[in-house]
Amino acid sequence: MSDDRTATIALLGCGGFIGSHLLERILDATDYRVEGIDLSSRKIAAFLGRKRLTFHTMNVHDVAAMRPVIERCGTVISLAALCNPYLYTHTPIDVIESNFVKIYPLVQACSESGCRLIHFSTSEVYGRTLTGAIDGADPRHVPVSHLLDETATPLLLGPIAAQRWCYASAKQLLERAVFAYGFERGLEYTIVRPFNFIGPRMDFIPGIDGEGVPRVLACFMDALLHDTSIRLVDGGTNRRCFTAIRDAVDAVMLILERRHASRQRIFNIGNPANETTIAALASRMIDLYRELRPEAAGRNFSVEPVTSREFYGEGYEDSDRRVPAVGAIAGALGWTPKIGLVDALRSAMEGFIREYGMKCRKVTGAFRDIVRETV
Ligand code: NAD
Ligand code: UGA
Repeated sequence: MSDDRTATIALLGCGGFIGSHLLERILDATDYRVEGIDLSSRKIAAFLGRKRLTFHTMNVHDVAAMRPVIERCGTVISLAALCNPYLYTHTPIDVIESNFVKIYPLVQACSESGCRLIHFSTSEVYGRTLTGAIDGADPRHVPVSHLLDETATPLLLGPIAAQRWCYASAKQLLERAVFAYGFERGLEYTIVRPFNFIGPRMDFIPGIDGEGVPRVLACFMDALLHDTSIRLVDGGTNRRCFTAIRDAVDAVMLILERRHASRQRIFNIGNPANETTIAALASRMIDLYRELRPEAAGRNFSVEPVTSREFYGEGYEDSDRRVPAVGAIAGALGWTPKIGLVDALRSAMEGFIREYGMKCRKVTGAFRDIVRETV
């Protein structure tokens, strides 16, 4: 492989939440050239002038257009996907196509052109815990199944009619395809299973720069910024481990740099110390919001339970718990997460307030009176 090719990375989905942070770090901290691909450059406008970035507004499903890009690169980092749970129960065909059918040809192209592939899967491939899947199970009598290990934990997904799992199934099958291409054709790969990364530039605020229902952090920020109710799906009893995007990018950079140690590996990237129920997440975010926006200090924020059927429609099931075992990546690359939940939340919320604070400014009492007088 030519030196030029080895020194060039194709970043598919570079305009998204993770992609934009990864792009920034690669440009700032390495000498790599980047061929960035996305349908939109809105979140990376600040980087478009950088000399070592060539951005293409392109659909990664257009393999004929993608192939020459891949053949100019030594490494492909594959992030492009539909990965928003509201879509899993509303447009499952798009979700299956985006996460398997139309991304599978890229795996073939990487294999045929001798490209290294770093592929972003998801913690959702683990599905539900044994305890969560056995109605009324007494956790004392069910083996510990919430600590999710890349090589030991079974993948436990819900029935076909629970369409929420179409994303996890598509991601799982693509993992199996990548593994098979490594096994039969010698494709060099690393598979990443992210656990709820959070940070600035995540998702969107409905009605401002996107439509539909974003992931939980943006949902809760939407409610805080607009002073509407935070809604807890099924009471917010399910749990997640949230990972600061800065910690996550550190891990991916190690995967990029430590090629041999990452070869043919699957790595969880997450922070087991940052587990919280969604209900407790809402409380923490309300407290932090009051701290970050003193004018909201006296405000009472409402929190209300909703059923998953009301919120997501038919076919939703949830992951009850997802605690990443991180021994594999610690042992191979020496990475351990460092940023606690409150600091990760603070950084993400500051990003939302910077981006949307003025756009969502509530018409305060005084200003409303002036408007009334002048109308
Ligand atoms: P995101 O939605 O912010 O970014 C995805 C990007 O891919 C978007 O910019 C989108 O425009 C682009 N994209 C989608 N389809 C495309 C196509 N056909 N052609 C070109 N571009 C396309 O999502 P994210 O949170 O940055 O996630 C990135 C990857 O990581 C996804 O594969 C996702 O499944 C995975 N992941 C993310 C998390 C997380 O915590 N954010 C957790 C688990 C897995
Ligand atoms: C997400 C998405 O599937 C993917 O981005 C990613 O693959 C996966 O995280 C991951 O980290 O691997 P999930 O965590 O279920 O999955 O998505 P969120 O929308 O962030 O929901 C988290 C929890 O909050 C769920 O229990 C959901 O029901 C709940 N929720 C969400 C609420 O209670 N209220 C809301 O307004 C939104």
